[in-house]
Amino acid sequence: MSKHTVTRRISVPDIRAMKGRDKIVCLTAYTAPVAALLDPHVDLLLVGDSVGMVVHGLPTPTGVTLDMMILHGQAVMRGSSHALVVVDLPFGTFEGSPEQAFASSVRVMQETGCQAVKIEAGVALAGTIAFLVQRGVPVMGHVGLRPQAVHIDGGFKAKGRSDDERARVIAEARAVDEAGCFAIVLEGVAESLAAEISGIVSVPTIGIGASPHCDGQILVTDDMLGTFERVPKFVRRYADLRTTIDDAAARYAADVRAATFPGEAEVYRFKPAG
Ligand code: KIV
Repeated sequence: MSKHTVTRRISVPDIRAMKGRDKIVCLTAYTAPVAALLDPHVDLLLVGDSVGMVVHGLPTPTGVTLDMMILHGQAVMRGSSHALVVVDLPFGTFEGSPEQAFASSVRVMQETGCQAVKIEAGVALAGTIAFLVQRGVPVMGHVGLRPQAVHIDGGFKAKGRSDDERARVIAEARAVDEAGCFAIVLEGVAESLAAEISGIVSVPTIGIGASPHCDGQILVTDDMLGTFERVPKFVRRYADLRTTIDDAAARYAADVRAATFPGEAEVYRFKPAG
């Protein structure tokens, strides 16, 4: 490819058109260098509010602010040029009213340059999603296990294992589909429910702990890279960075203590003039 070729990012309609055609590959990203590494391999990068837990050490996502999402969204946009970038609206920045959600979305889109926002919402906020979409804000929905509802649910609990809950998650998915979402994250739902919802809704479903019956998959990148000792059952580890980092830090510490770092090749030499 010539260095003057203008590359176009994957767009919202591109993702929508992949339903029933190609599996959609998604990962989370929060920083420019990691976004740059993931970008050639994925269709969609999500700047998820999981950043609060995996980067900032918060106990739940509810402490994440809009300013944090904007800062990480800017970094991911700088690091990527191919994938569609979606930024999460964090807890408390969209539930108050459609106008609040619109103001938060406009800030996120204008200050990061991302192409869409994601909202964890069910039937109650379908009107807000429609309000945003009608005003030019592409919205990705998120139903099933909603991490922002951790205090209502009393933990991060899989959904759809009883008849009542199953009906509730189907109603949520239908509502956000009809409200105009271009894709829907299905998190922590029983396999048969994921298959049923993927068959009902008109837009792609992106599964996380929701079986292979979804139109695409997403994982929290830090989980699949093995940064944490304990991860949910649905995570497949593709690397063991925890061991790699621990080993590198131990070897560095040993070298410093033994005064073998820095070595000959790692120091600047004085170069006298003339
Ligand atoms: O915040 C996040 O990373 C997410 C994904 C788990 C879908 O919402």
